[in-house]
Amino acid sequence: MTAQDLMVRLGDRSYTIKFGRRTIAGIGRFCLDIGVGKQVAVVSNPTVWKHWGDGVDRALAAEGFIVHRIMIPDGESYKNSETLNHIYDVLIETGMDRQSFLLALGGGVVGDITGYAASTYLRGIPFVQVPTSLLAQVDSSVGGKTGINHRLGKNLIGTFYQPRLVLIDSAALDTLPEREYLSGLAEVVKYGVVCDGSFFDFLSQGVEKLLSRDGDYVLHTVRRCCELKASVVERDEREGSYRAVLNYGHTFAHALEKITGYSRYLHGEAVAIGMVQAARLSETKGYAGHEDTRRIVDLLGSLRLPTELEGFAPDEYRAVMLRDKKVRDGGINFVFNRGIGNSVIERVADWDYLLQYVV
Ligand SMILES: NC(=O)c1ccc[n+]([C@@H]2O[C@H](COP(=O)([O-])OP(=O)(O)OC[C@H]3O[C@@H](n4cnc5c(N)ncnc54)[C@H](O)[C@@H]3O)[C@@H](O)[C@H]2O)c1
Repeated sequence: MTAQDLMVRLGDRSYTIKFGRRTIAGIGRFCLDIGVGKQVAVVSNPTVWKHWGDGVDRALAAEGFIVHRIMIPDGESYKNSETLNHIYDVLIETGMDRQSFLLALGGGVVGDITGYAASTYLRGIPFVQVPTSLLAQVDSSVGGKTGINHRLGKNLIGTFYQPRLVLIDSAALDTLPEREYLSGLAEVVKYGVVCDGSFFDFLSQGVEKLLSRDGDYVLHTVRRCCELKASVVERDEREGSYRAVLNYGHTFAHALEKITGYSRYLHGEAVAIGMVQAARLSETKGYAGHEDTRRIVDLLGSLRLPTELEGFAPDEYRAVMLRDKKVRDGGINFVFNRGIGNSVIERVADWDYLLQYVV
C-alpha cells in the first residue's frame, strides 16, 4: 500500500514526504536518493527501537551506510540539554562530519531533539525524519520546528530547520499504544476544523475506521494532514502570522497541561479540550454556529477524546496563560474557527472573555 509522495516547497529547503505501508524497508534507498554522506546516526528510544530499529538498521546497512545508534531515554522529560549533549558526544566521538546525517526514528520527542542536534552540530548537518507516532506523522515531523525543553518551560530552545526527507510508514502505528494513537487524532481533527471542512466530514464519516486503524483510511488521513500542514508552512515557514492557525486549541491546552503538571493529559487530549473551548468562543463571536460546535464536540467524543475542561479556578488559568511564551503586552493571538474548515486569528487581551467558559 503506498500513497503519492508529497513535496514541501520551500525553495532550496524543499523536501519530499514519502508515504506507505512497510516503507521503512526502503529507507536506505531513499537516503541514497537524497545524496547524503555514508555515515548516519540513528536517534531513537528503546520503546520504538524494539519494534522498528532493526528494520531501519538493516535497510541502511544494505545500501552501504555506516550506522551509529544513539539511544535516548523515552519521555518528554528527556527532551533536554543533557540528552542533547549525549547526542553531541556520540557525534563527535564517532567522527561524524558535515556530510554525515542524523535520522530520527520515533515520536515527536525524538524528532524535535534530533532536528535540533542536526541544526546545530557543525552548524548544521542533514537530517531525516522517520516519525512513528501519529502526532509525529501528522504534525511534528513536517515543518521544521526543532527544539528542546528548558527547566523553566517547554520548547523554549529551538530552531527552524527543515529535514531532507520524511518517511511515513503507516505500519509503525500498529505498535503505538491506544492512548497515544487517540491523542494524535486530536491534531488530525484540528486540521479539519481550521483548514478543510470536507476533511472534517471525511473524519466524521470514518470514525469506526479511524478507531480500528484501518490501513488505507489512516494512510489517507495522515497524507491529507501533511498536505494541509505543508501548505500552511509553505505560506509562512517561520510563523510570522498564518502558521499560528495550527495553534488552534493550544492556548488552553498548554495551560491545562501546565496546571496538571504534564502528567494527567497527553498533549492531544489537552488539545481536544482546548479546541472545544475555542469553538465555544468562536460561537460567541458569531464566527461559528452552535451546530459547528456540536459537531466538533461529537467528533472528538466519538474518537474517545476528553472535551470538558477540568474545574480549576479561572484565576489559575489566567496566571498560567499570561506566562505563555506567545503572550505579547498582555494579549494573545487567539485562533477562532470560522464555521468548520476555516479560521481567523485575532488578538485578545480580555482574559475574562477568554475564560468565560471556565467554571
Ligand atoms: N516540531 C513540531 O512542530 C511539533 C509539533 C507538535 C508537537 N511537538 C512535540 O512533539 C512531542 C510529542 O510527540 P509525541 O506525541 O509523538 O510523543 P513521544 O515522542 O513521547 O511519543 C509518545 C510515546 O509513544 C512511543 N512511541 C512512538 N512511536 C511508537 C510506536 N510506533 N510504537 C510504540 N511506541 C511508540 C514513544 O516512545 C513514547 O513513549 C512533544 O515534545 C511536542 O513538543 C513538536
